[in-house]
Amino acid sequence: MLKTFYTDSNTYYFNSENFTISTSNNNSETRVEKELDKSTLKKVVINISNSCNLSCAYCYADGGNYGMTNQLMDHPTADKIIEQLVSGDVKRINRLILFGGEPFLNIDLFVYIIEQLSQNIEVSKIETVTNGTVLNKKVKSMIEKYQPFLIVSLDGPQEIHDQLRGKGSHRRTVKFIDYLKSINYETFEVASTYTRKHQKLNLSKEDIYKYFTDMSIRFNINNVFSKNKILVVKEMEMSKEKRKEFIVQSINDIIEANVKNYISPIVYDVLLSMIYKSKTESFCDDIDPENTVTFDVDGTPKSCFRFWGTHNSDKVSLFNNKDNFEKCKNCWCKGMCMECVANMIDGYSPIISEDGQFLKCQKQDLMEYCVYQIIALSSDKVKLSKLVNNFERFIRYA
Ligand SMILES: C[S@@+](CC[C@H](N)C(=O)[O-])C[C@H]1O[C@@H](n2cnc3c(N)ncnc32)[C@H](O)[C@@H]1O
Ligand code: SF4
Ligand code: SF4
Repeated sequence: MLKTFYTDSNTYYFNSENFTISTSNNNSETRVEKELDKSTLKKVVINISNSCNLSCAYCYADGGNYGMTNQLMDHPTADKIIEQLVSGDVKRINRLILFGGEPFLNIDLFVYIIEQLSQNIEVSKIETVTNGTVLNKKVKSMIEKYQPFLIVSLDGPQEIHDQLRGKGSHRRTVKFIDYLKSINYETFEVASTYTRKHQKLNLSKEDIYKYFTDMSIRFNINNVFSKNKILVVKEMEMSKEKRKEFIVQSINDIIEANVKNYISPIVYDVLLSMIYKSKTESFCDDIDPENTVTFDVDGTPKSCFRFWGTHNSDKVSLFNNKDNFEKCKNCWCKGMCMECVANMIDGYSPIISEDGQFLKCQKQDLMEYCVYQIIALSSDKVKLSKLVNNFERFIRYA
């Protein structure tokens, strides 16, 4: 599909099949074909700990056990998973994510899986998400030896973090971050969950941005997903005008390589598609056994970690198919649009309701605005090349 963009000096055509912009409408609709390399998995996520030492007020994992009983994955289960991957002819895993609950409660198995898997499979990147409260010799030595990408959960200053995650947890997590800084550890970022409780304490999102910027750490901030009115962020949706300002600011941040700044998801999706020619056929491309596989604590394979434990996943393919929604089926930018299917199924998506109704979507207008900004930049080759070359440093792994 060709989408027309008008500027004072020219008319441009955006080809939504191969994400190119041209002044000619003869731009043939060459499709971007997905590389099919069955021996490479994009992502393997393993629940090594259905236990947690915290009980955060908002936890979608029901305090770390996904509605089941607290337990750590054992060695025989890990062996079965490894055997399944090796016998399935997987030769390479781009991202191995060891997850939980709190993964560092099972640090021995953490190391065991890395060592065993790496004997047969090339693992490009190891990642984990931690509450940063478990910092013992084994954890330190694993970090120093395997250099995983760490996402450390920190919700903001002590007053809010402790209220959501328990008294004393802020001090421990900050100590963890200080340790990472002390060893000049570069490959980590903080993930912050923003809630109504922040708002009640008069902590705006900007305040949280400033808090992390002052700490000089890379971060990202996500609104809580919850049905609990005490937690759900009130009137938080930015106005369309503010979202447009955020698009412009994000483009500038990329050009200036302000890598610690969080960028607009719209800019992110558009640039990811245009630069890497990555077309998203479904809302979540990870929900595809040829791309991603996740294993629950008992070794059961599931399409996404959000469906571990008691969470329901029988509507995944229905919700993941954009063509099941009339507006999406005919949308010019559907190839660039990514949305969390688990959030739709659980009723947290502002676009598609729990019962499969299309609600409303502002993304088309915002993506159009973003492409206009990129067209405007195309007259300044230096800035344009900075935008393209620096973008890689903004890719998020959360
Ligand atoms: C389930 S936790 C597991 C890892 C580890 N225990 C931790 O807290 O970092 C993974 C991430 O999900 C976030 N999270 C948990 N419940 C959430 C919710 N309802 N909405 C948004 N993020 C949530 C946590 O803050 C954390 O960053
Ligand atoms: S630390 Fe993580 S897993 Fe544990 S309760 Fe909090 S969000 Fe859930
Ligand atoms: S209508 Fe909105 S949700 Fe649907 S594909 Fe287009 S941008 Fe995405």
